[in-house]
Amino acid sequence: MDMNASIESATPKRVMSGMRPTGRLHLGHYVGVLKNWVQLQHQYQCHFSIVDWHALTTKYDDTSTLNDNIINLALDWLAAGINPETALIYVQSQVPEIAELHLLLSMITPNKWVETDPTLKDMVKMLHEDLTYGLLGYPILQAADILSVKGDLVPVGKDQLAHLEIARDIVTRFNNLYDTQVFPSPKPLLTETPLLPGVDARKMGKSYGNAIYLSDSEDETWAKLKPGITDPARIKRTDPGQPENCEVIYKYYQVFVPQEGQTLAAEECRSATRGCMDCKKILAEFINEELKPLRQRRIELAKDIGQVQQILERGSAQAKDVCSQTLQDVRKAMKLFNFKPY
Ligand code: TRP
Ligand code: SF4
Repeated sequence: MDMNASIESATPKRVMSGMRPTGRLHLGHYVGVLKNWVQLQHQYQCHFSIVDWHALTTKYDDTSTLNDNIINLALDWLAAGINPETALIYVQSQVPEIAELHLLLSMITPNKWVETDPTLKDMVKMLHEDLTYGLLGYPILQAADILSVKGDLVPVGKDQLAHLEIARDIVTRFNNLYDTQVFPSPKPLLTETPLLPGVDARKMGKSYGNAIYLSDSEDETWAKLKPGITDPARIKRTDPGQPENCEVIYKYYQVFVPQEGQTLAAEECRSATRGCMDCKKILAEFINEELKPLRQRRIELAKDIGQVQQILERGSAQAKDVCSQTLQDVRKAMKLFNFKPY
């Protein structure tokens, strides 16, 4: 019998992921990440971290919005259905063990591993200042996030694979160096993210002002969809359109509208029996309908920020327990100084 396989199937897998608190979440985050996290919490022990130190790696000069951003991110998560009774929701900076692990892992990580990380290189290119030591350590801090809770599975987008590869290399090196099995090797859980463009067809993001936020009202959602990009060849109402060339609106249909509604829109578009404005109105209704319960929850939760803080405090305390245990294992494996024998 394959012992490894049986041991593997016997231990429940741990999921770990994180988001930087840099602003409110938009539809792209919702369909690409959050919906998936909500599913995962039914299958695995999930650890979802608000990684405020990671936010500092690029935004150390202006921290005025950090606290609000943390609360807003928690509100978005909770509203979307992340359940603090099932999943561990915590704030990275409230678990100093992660910083300790980051330091220890940095001792064994060759500089060239981080210097050649393509995702990090992209981040450095966007910088207006010199590369800091903290930003260079970004992938190691991410590895510390994952390894401090002994994460097996890491739901991330493709852009994070390079960071995750470093985490895996660190695990191999650590376990070899200290002849131990302290860390499992974390595997990516790639989601087939339907890449949702912004309403102007550029990447959805706050810098372009083209994002629909979970916290937007129904009117705000409509105001943003109304000027959304359609088939550019369809100029007059009587021109037949081609849904496959309708870069934004029809893409959204494929994400938010059930199959029959998509087919009908495509037919009526091709025969010019539906105008783009009506098409957008129908889409807005579907999006608003899907977001309605979420938005209501968000409004309710926002009335009692103290309660949200309490959820984060409790989650962080629980995460601290988990990470303290890991750090005990790590110090022991590395034979670090200890007043009492291990
Ligand atoms: N780097 C990730 C991002 O930008 C955020 C992150 C930090 C993360 N620590 C993590 C993701 C640990 C997964 C696991 O999206
Ligand atoms: Fe796009 Fe709908 Fe207009 Fe066709 S009718 S071009 S699918 S918005």
